[in-house]
Amino acid sequence: MAVAKRVVARATELRELIAYHNDRYFGADDPEISDADFDELVRELRALEAEHPELVPERSVLDAPGAPRSTTFAPVIHRLPMTSLDNAMDEDELRAWGERVAKGLDDEVVRYVCELKIDGLALSLRYENGTYVQAATRGDGKVGEDVTANVRTIGEVPNVLRVAGVPAVLEVRGEVYMSKTAFEKLRHEKMRENADRVAAGRKPQPVPANPRNAGAGSLRQKDPAVTATRELSMWVYQLGEVEGTPAFTSHHDTLDYLRSLGFPVNPEVRVVDSLAEVITFCAHWQEHRNELPYIIDGVVVKVDDLGQRERLGYTSKAPRWAVAVKFPPEERTTLLRDIKVSIGRTGRATPFAELEPVVVAGSTVSMATLHNREQVQVKDVRPGDTVVVRKAGDVIPEVVGPVLSKRPKNSKPWKFPSTCPCELKSTLVQREGESDTRCVEPECPHQRDQKIIHFTSRGGMDIEGFGEKTVYKLSDADVLQDAGDIYSLTPEVLLAQGFGEGQTANLLKAIDGSRMAPLQKLLVALGIKHLGPSAAESLARRFGSLDAVSSASMRDLAAIDGVGDVIAESVASWFSDERHRTLVDKLRRGGVRFDNVTVVDVPQTLLGKTVVVTGTLSGFGREAAEQAIKDRGGKSSGSVSGRTFALVVGDDPGTSKVKKAVELGIPRIGEEEFVRLLETGELG
Ligand code: IVH
Repeated sequence: MAVAKRVVARATELRELIAYHNDRYFGADDPEISDADFDELVRELRALEAEHPELVPERSVLDAPGAPRSTTFAPVIHRLPMTSLDNAMDEDELRAWGERVAKGLDDEVVRYVCELKIDGLALSLRYENGTYVQAATRGDGKVGEDVTANVRTIGEVPNVLRVAGVPAVLEVRGEVYMSKTAFEKLRHEKMRENADRVAAGRKPQPVPANPRNAGAGSLRQKDPAVTATRELSMWVYQLGEVEGTPAFTSHHDTLDYLRSLGFPVNPEVRVVDSLAEVITFCAHWQEHRNELPYIIDGVVVKVDDLGQRERLGYTSKAPRWAVAVKFPPEERTTLLRDIKVSIGRTGRATPFAELEPVVVAGSTVSMATLHNREQVQVKDVRPGDTVVVRKAGDVIPEVVGPVLSKRPKNSKPWKFPSTCPCELKSTLVQREGESDTRCVEPECPHQRDQKIIHFTSRGGMDIEGFGEKTVYKLSDADVLQDAGDIYSLTPEVLLAQGFGEGQTANLLKAIDGSRMAPLQKLLVALGIKHLGPSAAESLARRFGSLDAVSSASMRDLAAIDGVGDVIAESVASWFSDERHRTLVDKLRRGGVRFDNVTVVDVPQTLLGKTVVVTGTLSGFGREAAEQAIKDRGGKSSGSVSGRTFALVVGDDPGTSKVKKAVELGIPRIGEEEFVRLLETGELG
């Protein structure tokens, strides 16, 4: 049966799209669409080709989803091909892989090695008689690019293996990546350069969209001196070609060996005995991926026994003994419907993107902040653009940049509005030397709403159920003029505004509870400029009541530890404003306690001391341990350095932290000693 024209046309289009985006990704290091969207194209074409095998050309773009070789670097033939991995997109696919493995090994016992899937660039390092001689990119798996000189600049890649008896040829494979910090630094530099360009009337240059592209671009620099400035790192995870001893029987032995030779081997590697443990490992890292200083996009699961691997062998594309478990994407492309500005409680006008809703990292995103006027200019995003949207963990979604090839022909740069979006339409102003644009109208209803939202929020009076929606509803009905009116709300008023009986009762109960909020919370809730929780706590401790704070002199205020002239001035000026005095009166009349000073008094045993915790403790969760350190005036850090006072080692510790502590002679202590340290500030 002839294939429908529509299907042929779509397959052709998909091939073109895949080839184009492949080139942007690998050839130009400047992708226009997210990985997830690219994967979707590939999946669609795969499905079409599977359904209509007659459509498959002799050489499909799907055969080589790797890089077309750039002319700048000499080709390197991989004697052992650098194959890719099959993906498991969810637990079912992982289990199906596990079943195939079990079947292939006649149900023998299998141990798995779980590794993080580093989102970087695959690289092969070649050593001859212990000396680094070559580095090559993966390319299309068969032929890569010679990047020897550039890779030499990566500090973590050893130049010489100073161990007796190294094999005559040792090829080590791994992933080059750029840490999140290094990427942010580079991105900032590029953005600053662009801001200068825009100011000089020139076009902004593309800014790397993510650490992987930044890493790939850095590795492909013509001048190794430029690569050297880019702070690249590497984790090695696999042996390639080896000539000469030693011979290994398991993958984890090879990793230990590589570690002993001085290669960077990721400390989170785990050997496990069952697929259930693999699933636990995956779930753990899916949840904690954002705590790592580098980006991972999944977990790689490998059969540990090298004999079993040999028996399982390879398909035409990938080994049967390994699988990449992919996490849900954190980046997608979508349509930017419009750019609007929102007005914050201080009047700051923040542009934000209204997006065609898209699922990113497991949640639907329909709005994303664009920060300020300059950011919109620098990123040059316009209504109608297709944009890349990113969400990392709990972080607010961000618009990374436009997909220029999809920009509508008649599009024009977006202009910052000159008036406030509220009904008063007052003029927005940008003061000399300030990057923010503001609405300075004191009666602005948008500012008022945001002030009330801040007041009821968790950081403020923490009134459960009194979120944005409730505030908008009540202020639109003119029931709330300011936060003080919350305390004169009655059941009748709430019911009349359409709240149900249960909700009304809950709201009033939460409001009542907030009357007892500690003074430091009340101070934060008022939204005094520059006054954060720790300065508020100092004020509360020193003055004991809101009235005492409001009548304190600037000098008395500024004399407090943690409160300087700036905060003191801001506090004094806040209380001198007529409007604010009305608010304070309403709060007083509404029964809000002004003198509830509950201070947790923990002896400051760890003042000035940095303590690092690694592994699991039985009596503390990770956060509780860190909080306990902070409560006692100490600093809890994620990494060991010369300034670390002690490393607390729990079960399953991070080996790199322990190794570093040993190297630097930092005391390592167990949980019991940690408890003693918290109490006394002393070791042993
Ligand atoms: S093993 C034959 N281990 O993921 C096995 N790959 O999707 C070769 N990757 O091309 C790869 N972390 O660039 C392996 N711990 C890890 C990895 C890893 C990241 C990359 C690698 C590979 C791609 C496959």
